[in-house]
Amino acid sequence: MDTVLLSDSNNELEKAADLIRNGEIVGIPTETVYGLGADASNEDAVRRVFEAKGRPADNPLIVHLADFSQAKEYTTSIPELAYKLAERFCPGPLTMVLPKNDRIPMITSGGLDTVGIRVPSHRVMHRIIELSGRPIAAPSANTSGYPSPTSAEHVMRDMNGKIAAVVDGGSSEFGVESTVISIESRNSVRILRPGCITKEMLSELCSEVIIDRAILHELEAGQKAASPGMKYKHYSPKADIIMVEGSLESFISYVGAHNGEGVCSLIFDTDKECFPYRYMTYGKDSSEQAHLLFQRLRELDDAGAEKVYVRAPETEGVGLAVYNRLIRAAGFEVIRI
Ligand code: TXA
Ligand code: MG
Repeated sequence: MDTVLLSDSNNELEKAADLIRNGEIVGIPTETVYGLGADASNEDAVRRVFEAKGRPADNPLIVHLADFSQAKEYTTSIPELAYKLAERFCPGPLTMVLPKNDRIPMITSGGLDTVGIRVPSHRVMHRIIELSGRPIAAPSANTSGYPSPTSAEHVMRDMNGKIAAVVDGGSSEFGVESTVISIESRNSVRILRPGCITKEMLSELCSEVIIDRAILHELEAGQKAASPGMKYKHYSPKADIIMVEGSLESFISYVGAHNGEGVCSLIFDTDKECFPYRYMTYGKDSSEQAHLLFQRLRELDDAGAEKVYVRAPETEGVGLAVYNRLIRAAGFEVIRI
């Protein structure tokens, strides 16, 4: 199959929407990362999404809607708190796990009786949902296990020949995937995957915001994941990623002691004046780190890096999302000095 690169002109968005309606798969930009969009109600199309990514069948897809008011068409009940959160954060990078009804096939929800609902704010994704008139299931458009794509070129690299088209909508604004939450009780939510809607932001509307243990810790043998995506190694480039927590001075001496051919460090912008070894930088604050992280992980592979020492980001605010992606890319290998 030839994968067509479409622009974000109205004409081409209509083509993309037609493809979705006809059961094809299209790479679509969102404000978080690029998604691999298909009609969420079409079992055959969804099956081919799993195939194109090489994704385990028990890892559910998020369903994207044009407006949160449509959520009741695909769920059995919506708590008051979900409406309150939607009013504040939708459209935007928030996914709420809700009890699904029969209009969402089991294959889409990875066999679960819940569905993750998200209302994306990106003009292109929003328009394609409207034009197609379908709920769009869209996992990140990377090969399973590899860093998520933040540009049309990344999607092309992973998916060329496997999907009908990719819409080029420029580089993704946030750069990490949406915050995934479940509603625990009348006033309490659990973060299953951290993103740019932070714990601090959710706390303005919820009396309790629980950070699921799997966000920062490896699941123990036999432990059940609240979000199946947490079970799998993720976001990993080919290079071996090692997170190093500590001051800049201790980081420099650690890398110095472990330096060699194929070693490249990933450091903060503000570190570079005094860093004497090979490096790339990933921004100066958490938002920039989120925006750049996945792109840098791909660039490290392109540069032939084999071992990457990463300066650990902070875990406050959006930093928690960056830390969560990195700790998974590192297979939980963290050096504390
Ligand atoms: O920002 C995003 O969310 C992007 C863009 C394309 O919208 N999509 C995305 O999808 O990141 P994906 O499939 O790569 O990640 C979805 C995550 C997985 O970790 C999955 O396990 C979790 O959300 N998830 C989806 N539905 C769920 C459910 N019903 N219950 C628990 N976790 C769920
Ligand atoms: Mg993903």
